[in-house]
Amino acid sequence: MNIKKNILIGITGGIAAYKTLSLIRLFVKSEYDVKVVATQNALKFVTPLSIETLSNHNLYSDAFALALERKVEHISLAQWADVVIVAPASANCIGKLASGIADDALSTLLLAVNKPLFLAPSMNENMYNHFSVQKNISNLQANGIHIIEPESGFLACNTEGKGRMAEPEMIFDIITKFQSHTSKYAKIKALVTAGPTYEPIDAVRFIGNYSSGLMGFSLAEALAENGISVDLVTGTTHLKTNHPLIRRIDVKTTAEMYAACHSLADSVDIIIMAAAVADYTPLQAVDKKLKKEDKRLTIDLKPTVDILKTLADRKKKHQIIVGFALETDHEMENAKQKLHKKKLDFVVLNSLNDEGAGFGVATNKVSLIDANESIVEIPLQSKKLVANEIVKHLLLKIKL
Ligand code: CTP
Repeated sequence: MNIKKNILIGITGGIAAYKTLSLIRLFVKSEYDVKVVATQNALKFVTPLSIETLSNHNLYSDAFALALERKVEHISLAQWADVVIVAPASANCIGKLASGIADDALSTLLLAVNKPLFLAPSMNENMYNHFSVQKNISNLQANGIHIIEPESGFLACNTEGKGRMAEPEMIFDIITKFQSHTSKYAKIKALVTAGPTYEPIDAVRFIGNYSSGLMGFSLAEALAENGISVDLVTGTTHLKTNHPLIRRIDVKTTAEMYAACHSLADSVDIIIMAAAVADYTPLQAVDKKLKKEDKRLTIDLKPTVDILKTLADRKKKHQIIVGFALETDHEMENAKQKLHKKKLDFVVLNSLNDEGAGFGVATNKVSLIDANESIVEIPLQSKKLVANEIVKHLLLKIKL
């Protein structure tokens, strides 16, 4: 029985094409059968001989040569593949795919792919940030294509910026993890919030908090690593996430987070509110910059809506809703109160009295309390490992 998985690697013209040779090797070494389709421009950076030697297969690069073989090779290759990755994916390739243009072997083949498709963009930072490229990327993502975000660093055009293709090891890791989890929880969807919300005081100032977003991002990653698709609604943070099953939605204010969460809530099975949401917002934000005056300044605040409570109020029967409780005193009592008041399935208690726990640190120590008040203590460890533990317990309650 052939247990090898088939991966089709597309290469477009870009200096990062040399890294794709290592990517081919990583997959070949890991029991994948690798076939490669390269554009003519890609072959100015890497040679057919290196590609064919590493992949142990003929290279496909010319749509008309394929036609001469009297086979509709772009269709059969697309069917052969279990997964497809284009690395590097140029702005041109992204644009063509988003617009349905098929004018060479690779672009033709990509339109015939109905398997998981990953793109690892690589280009100059200004090109990557261009509204038109970003619009194409959003369009592709909205249609289920996975984007492996480029990294920041030194670019071939002698500038620093975001645009460097993700390293081969990272691409390999993302795809193999994705492949190993396409089964059990593939139909489950989650909504996770992370980070702080900012409430504007005037054009340049806001009320915020020290949340880094790490706990929420770690939870999103732990869910995604179990094959669950995650909508990650995040407040302002410097964190990045690259997992293809995570769709990131950036927001700033509580009102924006509220709107994003409610627009997604009906389509998910698990909701985790890990964000540090502001409890108050200025009654009225001034749209100019406030001038300094030699007297006391009072800012009137009004309460924000409790997003978690409003989500729990519209909870569907199959949904699991998890809240966080960040406490400094009477921790357990307060956490249980939140659990019942907000009608949650779980509350994660974070005590600020525990060293190494809470805001702005890479570690955490929490108690996970379910609706029957059963408590699981998760000891001090990295937020990533704490997230894995929390997700493990939540998944026990999922009915497949
Ligand atoms: N939360 C929310 N919307 C708000 C405030 C909080 O959704 N406007 C969510 C948080 O994301 C968290 C939970 O509610 O999951 C508890 O947040 P926390 O600040 O600990 O509690 P509060 O309910 O705000 O109560 P208090 O500040 O009095 O402790």
